[in-house]
Amino acid sequence: MVTDASIPAGSATDDPELADCPGAFPRIRVAVFPAAGLGTRMLPASKAIPKEMLTVVDRPVIQYGVEEAATSGIERVVLVTASGKESIEDHFDASRDLEALLEAKGNHAGLAAVRRVASLVTVAAVRQPRALGLGHAVLLAEPLVGREPFAVFLPDDIMDGGSDPVMAQLTRVHARHGCSVIAVERVPDQETPRYGILDVTPVRDGLHRVREMVEKPAPGTAPSNLAIMGRYVLTPSVFEALRSTKAGAGGEIQLTDGIRALLKTEPVLALEYVGRRYDCGSRIGFLRANVELALADPETSVATKEMLQDALRRAM
Ligand code: G1P
Repeated sequence: MVTDASIPAGSATDDPELADCPGAFPRIRVAVFPAAGLGTRMLPASKAIPKEMLTVVDRPVIQYGVEEAATSGIERVVLVTASGKESIEDHFDASRDLEALLEAKGNHAGLAAVRRVASLVTVAAVRQPRALGLGHAVLLAEPLVGREPFAVFLPDDIMDGGSDPVMAQLTRVHARHGCSVIAVERVPDQETPRYGILDVTPVRDGLHRVREMVEKPAPGTAPSNLAIMGRYVLTPSVFEALRSTKAGAGGEIQLTDGIRALLKTEPVLALEYVGRRYDCGSRIGFLRANVELALADPETSVATKEMLQDALRRAM
């Protein structure tokens, strides 16, 4: 376990609700990216290409998450993949032939882009042989994570935190309190059945202590409209909890149920992050990500604006 010497040891909280947080301040070095799902919501695009490899503007969806991990100080990524998804590993690996070709052609921009992807983080992968759920996928990463707190990124969710990456917002809370932290956002009531939903006690400034959680509640039964979005910092005790977690919503072993079991033995926090989320596991979310991120990119912004204005004029 790595501790940041610049942060004083002990419980670093004035909040009575968090007095039982360990305050151990380990730095988050490793992130798990569950990427074994079939991606049925994105068919037919995801038939032969992993949904995580579909392009948003100029890079695959999953690269946004890996870049966020790198800028949040994470050094090592554990991919949980499945048969037919080898291209994800290849994407983050060095590509000697391609690099040699680009070098010979003097394509410096291409070469830099290719080298950059392979140098963001160290990547290791494990396979999920059967689609037993998100909780099961995270448990498979245990041997590669070890006994330290770790991050989880659901790669479908692109998080644009601007100059403050959403994972960095979470790891700061973790560094201070030492317990698990889940990224949350308020959703309209009718959307709660699509998410893990939390019942919480507010602590301060968008920080909450989790009291209960439920994965994909039936319509009208959600305890709140605070929904889990695809970023977590978890203590390694979640692995024990997941080992005894039974299949839940959708007949799958759910990460939400594993974290829920943790609540009996340790505090779990939820942070309403500052930033914008794009759900790239849905058609509209994927389209929105392409449009908004192209508008935000100085290289494509002006042309995208003109294109949209023209398209809207013709559609009216
Ligand atoms: C998963 C989680 C859910 C979370 C959601 C966020 O569900 O199980 O708790 O709210 O991601 O995108 P999925 O979208 O994989 O069904």
